[in-house]
Amino acid sequence: KKVTSGACGAALMREPDRAEAIVRAVIRAAGPVPVTVKMRLGWAEGELSAPDLAARLEQIGVAMITVHGRTRAQLYKGSADPAGIAAVRRRVHVPLIANGDVASPADARRLLDRTGADGVMIGRATLGRPWLPAMVMAGLAGRSVAMPDTAAIWSLARAHYDLALDHYGEAHGRRVVRKHLDAYATVAGAGRAIRDHLVRAEQPDDVRAVLDRLALGDLPADFGVAA
Ligand SMILES: Cc1cc2nc3c(=O)[nH]c(=O)nc-3n(C[C@H](O)[C@H](O)[C@H](O)COP(=O)(O)O)c2cc1C
Repeated sequence: KKVTSGACGAALMREPDRAEAIVRAVIRAAGPVPVTVKMRLGWAEGELSAPDLAARLEQIGVAMITVHGRTRAQLYKGSADPAGIAAVRRRVHVPLIANGDVASPADARRLLDRTGADGVMIGRATLGRPWLPAMVMAGLAGRSVAMPDTAAIWSLARAHYDLALDHYGEAHGRRVVRKHLDAYATVAGAGRAIRDHLVRAEQPDDVRAVLDRLALGDLPADFGVAA
């Protein structure tokens, strides 16, 4: 809402002239760096502006286009519509990436087949599952990759925690990483007590100690399930 209340984000789907002017300025400023664009299908059903907008942006030199198969009005409701993305495919020749609701290799295959896109983008399903893109790539190539076991998930969570605090600094890093810890906890089947501790602990070393114990199998992940 904050973004679209100005002429930004998905609001630009209703202002193609302005969108084109912005992208033109970005392309000019970026020099040799390729500029890519991501958009939804349009503002609302009956206003599916993505095919026209994508074609215009291709004309001015955009290198790749990603389309999330929902309208702004849909937010995350319903499901992403492959036909809407296919309509963009018919209008552009640059690489097209389809996005929306992919959580498995089979989902990716289906979306590629139904849209004619060159690739898929995965968003929400990667939260707590950073191995998913590799798993999907392998699946599309006809190979299978095993999901990490619980201990490996906690080791990843620990590595992610340290990277986030390093990258963002302690105070902001702890806020950013919270949703990721919660997602790892969901994927690992952790109980309430563990979740609360990971999200609320005041001291980073307390979080690290619990993650390390979980990674060693020293603390059962379902600890506190009934709590
Ligand atoms: C935590 C989070 C942050 C996101 N940030 C952005 C963003 O900055 N720009 C953007 O275009 N889309 C953003 N999205 C939307 C996703 O890129 C994607 O279009 C949408 O989640 C649908 O794909 P999915 O079904 O795979 O999640 C974000 C999504 C999530 C869950």
